[in-house]
Amino acid sequence: MKKRIAILPGDGIGPEVCEAATRVLKEIEALYQHEFELIYGDIGGISIDKNGTPLPQETLSACRQSDAVLLGAVGGPKWDQLPGDQRPEKGLLGLRKELQLFANLRPVTIYDALADSSPLKDEIIQGVELLIVRELTGGLYFGEPRERKIVDGEEIAIDTLQYSRFEIERIVRKAFQLAGERRGHLTSVDKANVLESSRLWREVVEEVAKDFPNVDYSHMLVDNAAMQLVRNPRQFDVIVTENMFGDILSDEASMITGSLGMLPSSSLSEDGPGLFEPIHGSAPDIAGKGLANPLATLSSVAMMLAYSFDLYDEATSLQDAINEVLNKGYRTADLTNDSNTLSTIQMTDKVIEALQNNK
Ligand code: NAI
Ligand code: MG
Repeated sequence: MKKRIAILPGDGIGPEVCEAATRVLKEIEALYQHEFELIYGDIGGISIDKNGTPLPQETLSACRQSDAVLLGAVGGPKWDQLPGDQRPEKGLLGLRKELQLFANLRPVTIYDALADSSPLKDEIIQGVELLIVRELTGGLYFGEPRERKIVDGEEIAIDTLQYSRFEIERIVRKAFQLAGERRGHLTSVDKANVLESSRLWREVVEEVAKDFPNVDYSHMLVDNAAMQLVRNPRQFDVIVTENMFGDILSDEASMITGSLGMLPSSSLSEDGPGLFEPIHGSAPDIAGKGLANPLATLSSVAMMLAYSFDLYDEATSLQDAINEVLNKGYRTADLTNDSNTLSTIQMTDKVIEALQNNK
């Protein structure tokens, strides 16, 4: 299979974890006889320094001409003083918008070998394997009007939570599809006891559900969902929810594992390239030191193989390889207090070794 992948390393540890991804992609290419054409683009702070903008046109067209995009991370103290619309994050937000990435997928998996790093008790987290599907291009973060004004001498600020039937349906349909490929349970999270947009959301879920008789589904209010995620996270398979609820719940859920360096994400559009990235940031405190844990990025590569290329065997092999190195006790510094830890490159070597041995 021939695919083109745009790689946008970005800032901080971004280049280091993207280098790990490149090596693994080359290995999979060789082991499974695929052809991956890798093209590189600037994004974020490094692009501000080089090109005067966090998202140059060139990067955008490289992404548009690719089958998938892999991103490291953007941002860092160097650019913190810039005004909001010129900051590194703008590059990422712009990319999401331009590529119409409406579905953000955040899997939360407990690796048995890492159960100790969770702030929750062992018996609560054992076997957790859930996926949050967050609507990414609508809702409160984009609704109009959004403004400040003076009304009767009082300053007020307005944000608008707006969703169209179309926007709800496409994300809900995606979530039902994904649930059908997993354990067949979907939890739709909303605030239908208060919000009109949530009542429309529920109606659409009821309608779309008819097309997925193999998926059993339920509705849950967002405040309850926040509670259930720490009380009994095992009850969830796929959670689908609107933009802001998803933002908050996915960060909450990521803490169930306790290891930021382990968690991948993907953002998908209707038919353009998907964007795959670790959920962690640019980790400026450890950048350039060879300390970055590459596994979140390698897991993101596994998601790319599955979701963008339908290479499910290759995706599974990669995810298995990650499990295997952890089960063997290999750790980067973020995963243990032991002094005997692996560098980014050494950890990547171990994953590549496992890939080779299991082929
Ligand atoms: P962060 O995720 O970069 O770092 C938080 C802590 O986790 C740090 O101590 C860091 O060293 C550690 N860490 C993160 N990823 C790691 C990895 N792969 N291996 C080992 N340790 C890891 O979040 P923080 O510190 O809040 O933000 C730093 C910069 O990253 C900021 O400029 C922020 O805006 C940006 N950021 C970018 C994101 C993105 O590109 N998607 C997401 C979150 C933050
Ligand atoms: Mg967030």
